[in-house]
Amino acid sequence: MKKENTVKRLKDYQAPAFLAKSVDLTFKLSPRHTVVTAKIVFVRQRLGSDLVLNGKEVSLISARIDNTLLKLEALQIRNDSLRVPKKLIPNDEFLWEAVTSIVPESNTSLDGLYFSSGIYCTQCEAEGFRKITYFLDRPDVMSVYSVRIEGTEPILLSNGNLVNCGIGFAEWHDPWPKPSYLFALVAGNLCALKDSFTTKSGRVVTLKIYTKPNDVDKCSYAMASLKRAMKWDEEEYNREYDLDLFMIVAVDDFNVGAMENKGLNIFNSKYILADSQTATDRDYENIERIIAHEYFHNWTGNRITCRDWFQLCLKEGLTVFRDQQFVAAMKQSPIKRIEDVITLRTKQFREDDGPLAHPVRPEEYIEINNFYTATVYEKAAEIVRMLKIIVGEDGYRKAVQRFFQIYDGHACTVEDWIKVFEKTLGIDLKQFSLWYNKKGRPKVNLNESFNGETYTLEFSQEILNDSGTAPNVPMLIPINLGLFDNTGNEIEKSHTILLSKATERFNYNNLNEKPIPSLLRSLSAPITLEDKLSRDELLVLGAHDSDLFNRWDSIRKLSLDSIEKFIYEGTEIDEQLIDNIGKQLANEQLEPSFRALLATPPSHESIINYLAPKKANIDTDLIYYASQSFKKVLAEGTVSYLYKVFSQLSQTEPYNPDPNQSGSRALKLRILDLLCYLEDNAEKARMLFATATNMTDKLGSLTILVKQDKAIKELETFYDTWQENNNVIDKWFSTQAIYTNPKKSILTIRRLAEHHAFSPRNPNRFRSLIGSFASGNLCGFHSPEGDGYNIVTEWLMKLDEINPQTAAQVCTVFDNWKIFDKKRQEKIKKTLGRLLSMNDVSRNTFEIVTKILKE
Ligand code: BES
Ligand code: ZN
Repeated sequence: MKKENTVKRLKDYQAPAFLAKSVDLTFKLSPRHTVVTAKIVFVRQRLGSDLVLNGKEVSLISARIDNTLLKLEALQIRNDSLRVPKKLIPNDEFLWEAVTSIVPESNTSLDGLYFSSGIYCTQCEAEGFRKITYFLDRPDVMSVYSVRIEGTEPILLSNGNLVNCGIGFAEWHDPWPKPSYLFALVAGNLCALKDSFTTKSGRVVTLKIYTKPNDVDKCSYAMASLKRAMKWDEEEYNREYDLDLFMIVAVDDFNVGAMENKGLNIFNSKYILADSQTATDRDYENIERIIAHEYFHNWTGNRITCRDWFQLCLKEGLTVFRDQQFVAAMKQSPIKRIEDVITLRTKQFREDDGPLAHPVRPEEYIEINNFYTATVYEKAAEIVRMLKIIVGEDGYRKAVQRFFQIYDGHACTVEDWIKVFEKTLGIDLKQFSLWYNKKGRPKVNLNESFNGETYTLEFSQEILNDSGTAPNVPMLIPINLGLFDNTGNEIEKSHTILLSKATERFNYNNLNEKPIPSLLRSLSAPITLEDKLSRDELLVLGAHDSDLFNRWDSIRKLSLDSIEKFIYEGTEIDEQLIDNIGKQLANEQLEPSFRALLATPPSHESIINYLAPKKANIDTDLIYYASQSFKKVLAEGTVSYLYKVFSQLSQTEPYNPDPNQSGSRALKLRILDLLCYLEDNAEKARMLFATATNMTDKLGSLTILVKQDKAIKELETFYDTWQENNNVIDKWFSTQAIYTNPKKSILTIRRLAEHHAFSPRNPNRFRSLIGSFASGNLCGFHSPEGDGYNIVTEWLMKLDEINPQTAAQVCTVFDNWKIFDKKRQEKIKKTLGRLLSMNDVSRNTFEIVTKILKE
């Protein structure tokens, strides 16, 4: 095992021996040799310890303490740390001054300070600051930063307020104490879209979104989203912005989606740039969400931060919950919740069911960057959501306000968060807290009985036995439910019951017949509920449930059940289900986006996740075949509506990404896709491609043509038109990677990987080809000869050398390998072995692959 692959444990947490009162940084920028001078006032917190600073890939030129030059031999410099023996530290408070140099140009990991595509950019979360200078690079060390940047670039940015600038330099000061992971620096030839926002107490905040000069005209939607988010956070959470300047920079080379650095958010350009010609409705929605998410971190993450990285869910889960609330409020539609649950189930449930399962607050890790997971994000957001259901709107509001009041300026733990709720509301949340500490998902079995006039629901939860340190006892589970009669009338409206014991009964009296329960409405808890509802009951709910989430969910259950029976029993696809979908597809009383969702059969991914717990030796080809058959039957069974609805959906108004228009586009494309399962309707798709006036229709029709293998000309046209636009060309790559017929996909991927526009240096490009193929082209990736595994592995090996974070992230596509047939398992095992035996395998990839392989 490699030297650095040591396990870090939550139980080993120790408060820092020193704090840093102030940090004063000077950068002399140069791609090959950037010199960083750090003047830091450290204050001793504990007697008798050496000063141990984190530092990686930095060269120390000189170090001083209180102006006395230190002999470098007196310092113990390791791979990732620098130790100043206590005897060299004269006082409890002292000035540390270090001059170091770094090479931003060769930093291909995009972590720390890097220079790429002509721009200097930083990414410090979680542990990138140590690649800039020696420091106590941990979130519980919060300091006030002053930064001077010297460089020839026209724009030189850092956190906080600009205090001075001139030719070749700029000076910044951030008055709010912050951990090092929120430090940021950007320099380059950038232009800004400017605007302003007046907070409710009257502070006028200048807003600037920086991009490459040609892209400034694509920032207006991001700007409008930012202002909506600022307003919403004032109204819903009583949170105001706290500086006179808020900046966002969009860069092309970025490992993740976006980063919440104080006053200077840095974004992957894919989540900023949009106009009707280059961005899809989905892109617009992502932009609004991510802008809001990073902005919301200003309070949940920055003003109140995490004590250590085990507490990551504290800021991410809460902030995801907040961004979900925000988008739902902007959309005013239950379909936002459906989309969130689709993500939760496909990503988080899968993770929880496999070898990478971990609690929302893990107890150990090797590489923290591997823990920005669906569990830490999505499941943690579900926990906040449950907490809100349990304590109610008012309770939630009160407790959260108190949280801001007490912990502003602090680095907190999950316990702090829970304690505020307990103290403010006078409740005990001990049992509820288990949600943070247990991996896996509670399974709850339902038994119904009806005698005479009393209807009884009996819930039994299987106790999670997750081998962690949390006790194996029942969990606190909120269940939202309503009751229906057989004709679909709601006879008991929505209410919440709380399960807290292994088995519990709830009675409903004065009923004439056994009602149909609509359970776990809007997925009130992230559990697996075995409700044993009959097909007939699900059909009633699928047609009538007033909770549109559950109406959709009943259709989903029926669809999955029908697909399962088709695969394993040779049963035909359920006609009544198809009929039900068809009727709603044509029902103009319903939102178009909801109709589009109902008419979207379960993805390959969701079919696999559904089958995985109950079947062994899953054959991907059968899933593909069943899914194709389902779509064909759906198209045939609803044909009487398809043409009619399709013709009603042409749009003439100017493009707007609002829910109304985007819903209609989604429905139109959904129907067009189904029509192409009937006879040769490719002409219709060609026509839409040729006449489309926005990227949603363009890409949507192109995708349909790629699926039908009829897109040769259109792919060329598309490429020629957009070759200058990286974000659009990423779509060109990913559409082919995902939708090319599996039989041809290996050749296509090999050909595209040789395309001059492909490069593993840009994470978006890598993900759009290799990542999309591995996660989206089920049968291509799992092609029986193992070619799919080989090509992905070969590229992962190349990527791991230059960008371990992105490599490890993509490696997770192998996490469900044990559900497949033995032959495929053998091949995957071999391919993972190749990854592990790389000469210099990164600890990121090492951790992921080792865990995936573990028996
Ligand atoms: N703090 C994260 C950025 C981050 C992610 C830093 C991973 C280090 C490692 C940021 O707030 C974030 O969560 N970004 C998400 C988008 C968000 C809308 C969920 C991302 O980049 O995917
Ligand atoms: Zn975040």
